[in-house]
Amino acid sequence: MKYDFTSIMERKGMDAFAVDSLGRAPGLAPEAPENGMDVIPMWVADMNFPACPTIPQAIMNRVKEPHYGYFEPRKEYYDSIIRWQETRNGVTGLKKEHIRYENGVLGGVISALNVFCSKGDKVLVHSPTYIGFTKSLSNNGYHIVHSQLVQDDAGIWRMNFADMEQKLKEERIHAAIFCSPHNPCGRVWERWEIEQFMELCKKYDVFVVSDEIWSDIILTGHKHIPTQSVSEDARMRTAAFYAPSKTFNLAGLVGSYHIVYNKWIQDRMDKESSLSHYNDMNLLSMYGLIGAYQPEGYEWADELCQVLTENVNYACQYISEHFRGVSVAQPQGTYLLFLDCSQWCKLHECDIEHVERAAWKVGVAVQDGRMFHGPCHLRMNLALPLSRVQEAMHRLDQYVFNA
Ligand SMILES: Cc1ncc(COP(=O)(O)O)c(C=O)c1O
Repeated sequence: MKYDFTSIMERKGMDAFAVDSLGRAPGLAPEAPENGMDVIPMWVADMNFPACPTIPQAIMNRVKEPHYGYFEPRKEYYDSIIRWQETRNGVTGLKKEHIRYENGVLGGVISALNVFCSKGDKVLVHSPTYIGFTKSLSNNGYHIVHSQLVQDDAGIWRMNFADMEQKLKEERIHAAIFCSPHNPCGRVWERWEIEQFMELCKKYDVFVVSDEIWSDIILTGHKHIPTQSVSEDARMRTAAFYAPSKTFNLAGLVGSYHIVYNKWIQDRMDKESSLSHYNDMNLLSMYGLIGAYQPEGYEWADELCQVLTENVNYACQYISEHFRGVSVAQPQGTYLLFLDCSQWCKLHECDIEHVERAAWKVGVAVQDGRMFHGPCHLRMNLALPLSRVQEAMHRLDQYVFNA
């Protein structure tokens, strides 16, 4: 590997929520470990790899200029996004006027829904569900209508088209959130699946908010298909959201963007984002994106996907060989495992809280899957050096699942 995916970074005391908030945010963050064990952060969706070197370089070069006043996004910002989307996702016809900065993907999702819906409207969302959707939708007064994803005979999570159709029709729903790739199930949707979903949206006049924040983290053998690319109709009824934040671990810098081809939607979203007067780019996050989308960033992201594929393969194999009663669908994208512990809990006559507390106690800071509607599940982040993933598996083996 050209880049460093093996060093163990010491993030303690350096502003990392994933590490420093343990034991301090009840109901959200895991408990702190006991017995002097160190923390293996496997919950919040950020990564434990040093950033691609072109990112700090671009930021530091700008920081050296001692003036940080109001600014206009550089042409390079838009050109970098267009090049990235063309090269990674095969996007064609993308122009500066289709791209807008967003502080965060979640904020953008709500802006788009505010355009598509009136308050109190129902919004179709798949379940299991990313907790950010659940919270933002409820906080903004939308009613979530879940369509349950189902595992097929091979254990692959699939959309239930009949269920979605019934709900869209009977509940007269006109907006949906599509998480592609899917957090927490790790599905990279195939073209036919997206086509069929978008056909339903066309049939029932449903606007689509396509959250593609994970679209660069695709594991070996899979390919991301942008929702807007499956048909002309899809291109015009979808607001799509992207960011370098998951791919390059830049969430702390803040900065995402949307792509909207439909002029009416774009105008309405401009209006919506102007309401708070607070959807403006941060100078350093602009340089962060420009630094990330350099040729080195393309290589770095490729290596990252290889590293994550190895981690996922290792962890899934370890779990299936050693943790009887724990099952997991092999993710195709993201770095998240969604572990189903129902059988294990049944065999051991306990609940998921027992499992997570035992894991937290030995520093394996996994997340409670109930936040994502997994009734007896854990969500586990594998974006760490393989040696840390191995250590986590050994601790789970010794102290939790085979204690
Ligand atoms: C599917 C999905 N959307 C949005 C976000 C949050 O994005 P942002 O921090 O840009 O609001 C996350 C973070 O984990 C996510 O998994």
